[in-house]
Amino acid sequence: MAGSKRIGLITGGGDCPGLNAAIRAVTKSALRVGYEVIGFRDGWKGFIEGDTEILDGVKTSEIIDRGGTILGTSRFSPLHLEDGTRWTLQQFKEWGLAALVVLGGEGTLSIAGKLAREGLLVVGIPKTIDNDVVGTDYTIGFQTAVQIATDALDRLRSTAESHHRVMLLEVMGRTVGWIATYAGMAAGADAILIPEIPLDEAKMAELCRMVKGRSKEGKRFSIIVVAEGVGLAEETEVSGWVGEVISKIIEEKTGLEAKFSSLDYIQRGGTPVAYDRNLATAFGVKAVELVREDKYGQMTAIKGNRITSTSLEKVVDKVKKVNLKVYKIAETFFG
Ligand code: F6P
Repeated sequence: MAGSKRIGLITGGGDCPGLNAAIRAVTKSALRVGYEVIGFRDGWKGFIEGDTEILDGVKTSEIIDRGGTILGTSRFSPLHLEDGTRWTLQQFKEWGLAALVVLGGEGTLSIAGKLAREGLLVVGIPKTIDNDVVGTDYTIGFQTAVQIATDALDRLRSTAESHHRVMLLEVMGRTVGWIATYAGMAAGADAILIPEIPLDEAKMAELCRMVKGRSKEGKRFSIIVVAEGVGLAEETEVSGWVGEVISKIIEEKTGLEAKFSSLDYIQRGGTPVAYDRNLATAFGVKAVELVREDKYGQMTAIKGNRITSTSLEKVVDKVKKVNLKVYKIAETFFG
């Protein structure tokens, strides 16, 4: 709305560490330049329902280190409602907003991008542990998930070594293997299984040979990272954890004892690492700058070491896959 000094803010999709640091950064930097900030609870759901709270300096103090989101989140999409677009635009007008800042992953930002096409004055901030948003090298939350998974792998190594076991850790990532690749590389994993490289029959046989070979060489344990989205040969039945299925196949084919663990939601909870707090802070400040410059339909981004922005249009319904050059570096140390 022309002349409005009110910014709306939502957090949508799966939560991640660093969301509160971003809420703090958007709010405090907006307040400094004369805006009021109004938060809508539980993502797009609260926006449609008008479930709000005023965000001020007090509410957004002492939250930089807190996991989750003080605003709550959901996977609700207004685009699934009949007349959802009109309703969203109407809400924007009714709340007298200058802009809506949307903290989201690929799903939430795709909705924002589609609504921007319809005239919603929106600015996106990419966040998700999966790091699968195109147009930015990193998303808020990713480095924390990598750290949690790396710590878990370090712990698994000592027990694997004592018991001479093959240890598999399954991590999140939806359809991509960013967390698996970065955590596996940091922990010196013996194999990293990602959706970008399907584990067909030949690859599975290769994996089993590698594990067996290590054992023959006197390396009496192996550490394998499995991304939740990794695909197996068509005839392999997977119901439940894919990592568990793989561990059973390894056991059967190698005769070695294989154990499976999953980090599940633990990798998404708790305090953000310093990198994510700083990325969230820089993205929050940048988002307010974009609003002040009337640059809507944009998303904050980091490219190289530069904080910049990119069109939300590029993000809509796309997924950023693992850079295979990075995977190759990790692969150098397999086996
Ligand atoms: O997108 C983040 C993510 O944590 C994925 O890695 C995971 O597949 C999914 O969310 C789990 O989502 P939910 O919270 O809906 O169970």
